[in-house]
Amino acid sequence: MSAQKVCPLDELAPDAARRVVLDGVAIAVVRDSSGAVHAIGDTCTHGDISLSEGFVEDDGLECWAHGSKFSLTTGKPLNLPAYEPVPVFAVEIVDGDVYIDPAVRLEV
Ligand code: FES
Repeated sequence: MSAQKVCPLDELAPDAARRVVLDGVAIAVVRDSSGAVHAIGDTCTHGDISLSEGFVEDDGLECWAHGSKFSLTTGKPLNLPAYEPVPVFAVEIVDGDVYIDPAVRLEV
């Protein structure tokens, strides 16, 4: 498996999340307010909710259902009710395009 092109970098709005599915893996892609791009698992660990439908706030992505916010860098929930992390994926920017490998989960 290798990194797959997701979209041009300039298609990602700041402080917004986009859902992509790569090889059956749902991933929330987020460009934060500093311009950094993050990729974390898109399914909330508290329920079957797409995190990319939630809210980007500071360093996290908040689930709209019950308010757990997941760190964009570690995937860990920053508050209850979720207590299990979502996976974190490596992001590469090559020639202005965003690439993610859904098979490579970062240990953070
Ligand atoms: S389903 Fe996400 S916090 Fe409950």
